[in-house]
Amino acid sequence: MSGIFVRPVSRAVGEIFVPGDKSISHRAALFGGMAHGETYVSDFLPGEDCLSTLRCLSQLGVEWERQGTEVWIRGQGMENWQEPDDVLDVGNSGTTIRLMLGALAGRDFAATLSGDASIRKRPMRRVAEPLRQMGATIVGRQGGNLAPLTIVGGSLAGGDIRIPVASAQVKSAVILAGLNAQGETIVEEPAPSRDHTERMLKAFGANIVHQGTRVQVKGGARLRGQHVSVPGDVSSAAFFLVLGSLAPSGEIFLHDVGVNPTRTGIVDVLKEMGADIEFLNLREHTGEPRANLRVRPAALRGVEIGGALIPRLIDEIPVLAVAAALAEGETLIRDAAELRVKETDRINTVVAGLKELGADVEELPDGLRIIGRPRLTGGSLKSHGDHRLAMAWAVAGALSAQGVSIEGTEAAQVSYPEFFRDFERVSRG
Ligand code: S3P
Repeated sequence: MSGIFVRPVSRAVGEIFVPGDKSISHRAALFGGMAHGETYVSDFLPGEDCLSTLRCLSQLGVEWERQGTEVWIRGQGMENWQEPDDVLDVGNSGTTIRLMLGALAGRDFAATLSGDASIRKRPMRRVAEPLRQMGATIVGRQGGNLAPLTIVGGSLAGGDIRIPVASAQVKSAVILAGLNAQGETIVEEPAPSRDHTERMLKAFGANIVHQGTRVQVKGGARLRGQHVSVPGDVSSAAFFLVLGSLAPSGEIFLHDVGVNPTRTGIVDVLKEMGADIEFLNLREHTGEPRANLRVRPAALRGVEIGGALIPRLIDEIPVLAVAAALAEGETLIRDAAELRVKETDRINTVVAGLKELGADVEELPDGLRIIGRPRLTGGSLKSHGDHRLAMAWAVAGALSAQGVSIEGTEAAQVSYPEFFRDFERVSRG
């Protein structure tokens, strides 16, 4: 396991190209493998999670080639996918296992999916149930709730599917199954989650309409390969938005960040807290808005967040909690019980880590209460194999009085392989 000691900074300054969006990279690879003709992906995220999606595609007989952040996928249509002769290994990736289950639901062969110790603890009933309703067979531990999971697909029927949580992974699985189902599939979720699947499938030629919490997709469309240009990941940018806001001085410029409104809750909340963040040169490509972001130091105040905002910033809560620990007054985060079933139980791991740094923080069943202090002390923290914790702790270290040593920094490979290099580049002692 690798570790690093992060020193306090007096200045955070420089320009960064954050790597490609993880959610969009997964979808570009998968839809390219389902489509007919070549898909070219530029600025693909070569993080471990997205590489898991590419490796699973190989096992299904899809040919692709990758050179750095460019990927070419030679799609032959998903009707030509082959039964894999071994377990599909999704590694640490929830997006890979859930979207793959949806895509495999329409294939008339058996496939078994599994992953690392974290993935084998995460709930899959939420995706198994709707896919069963459509006609797929899924078996696994706890009645199909835990991986390893075996799916035997076949002919599917559309219909009205209500999913119990606002989850883009579950919604996307149902949409992908819907592409292969008889008739129309309607998916309804309790609050809007990220809509990259809907936007990208439209570009690939699917018959899909979405508005708010409702998506309608017609079965039988033939997907055609596309050029997908992946914007920078706003979830990766978030670490620098917090660092740049709370460092004593400096300015950070982030190039070409995806600013899809289903993902920018972190920017809205930081601004509400008093952050100085500007969007520059707003533009659009492959149906996804993007902009350059500039962040300068500002005094932050606590906020109350919950409800429909939560799915718009769920992955950014660890670093938002670091910001709240240094903001003036109280921050209350509610309706975020989903954090408990991420790569780690992020309510528990974030609270434990912040306490170690002397923060005033309380664990709630569905969130956190944090009373800000002028300074975090310093200490030793673990990533627990969770990429977003490894990076949030780096931000905490840079903003602490004595620095933070982090064990398990290799976890950042999942979504931002060059994170510590970029972080070092903008940090001045
Ligand atoms: C993702 C959806 C979210 C998010 C995850 C990526 C996606 O998960 O936390 O990092 O790419 O669809 P849920 O759908 O479980 O909320």
